[in-house]
Amino acid sequence: MDDTLSGYAYGDPSLPPSPVTIEDLARLKQAVGLDDEDMAALRRAGRILSPRADVVVDSWRQAVAAVPHLLAAYASAEGVIDDRYRVRVRERFKRWIDDLCFRPWDQPWLDYQHEIGARHTHLAKNKADAAAAVGHIPLRYLIAFTAVVNDRVKPFLVESGAAAEEVEAMHRAWCKAALLSVTLWTRPYVADSAW
Ligand code: HEM
Repeated sequence: MDDTLSGYAYGDPSLPPSPVTIEDLARLKQAVGLDDEDMAALRRAGRILSPRADVVVDSWRQAVAAVPHLLAAYASAEGVIDDRYRVRVRERFKRWIDDLCFRPWDQPWLDYQHEIGARHTHLAKNKADAAAAVGHIPLRYLIAFTAVVNDRVKPFLVESGAAAEEVEAMHRAWCKAALLSVTLWTRPYVADSAW
């Protein structure tokens, strides 16, 4: 893995630790119904998606670009899109597929999930890229977009030629894992007592 990717801070000791504990994570895995079989299926899905990360991520980006109030996240308050920002974020978006499917879900992983969440909020948005864009993404869009991310992954799993049952197993595992990841990203948005 290329850990020199611009703005990618996985494992950076200067990152604040996530307030979510490993025990919280284990409980969250149970809540989303992710078991050991799913974790194995997630790795198999990753082996299909990772080599195609360019097209997978572009399919998500096309969905964002088609919705003006989502695309606005990459634009200034006056509506000027920061293209350099979009390109840099795209590369880190690709890396998330690998981080989700292949990394151990340990403290450094939790810490970077927290950072990704913060990067969608006024706490850290634009900072990694010194971008000139609006300062916050509404929580409702972050959550809702999970449906699009999960939908658009399926054709890539189907195109792999895997049997229908295996496609379903990989897709089920992916959907649970992506939802769990996005759930962790909600942590910087909400007060301790609400999370
Ligand atoms: C399931 C929903 C979503 C997923 C999986 C996702 C994934 C990601 C990932 C992996 C990154 C890069 C994190 C890093 O810096 O390493 C990122 C950043 C970003 N995402 Fe999302 N995202 C989601 C929802 C959204 C929505 C709805 C918008 C726009 C309305 C959006 C706009 C952005 C922007 C602007 C950045 C750059 C943040 C920064 O300044 O560093 N994302 N996203």
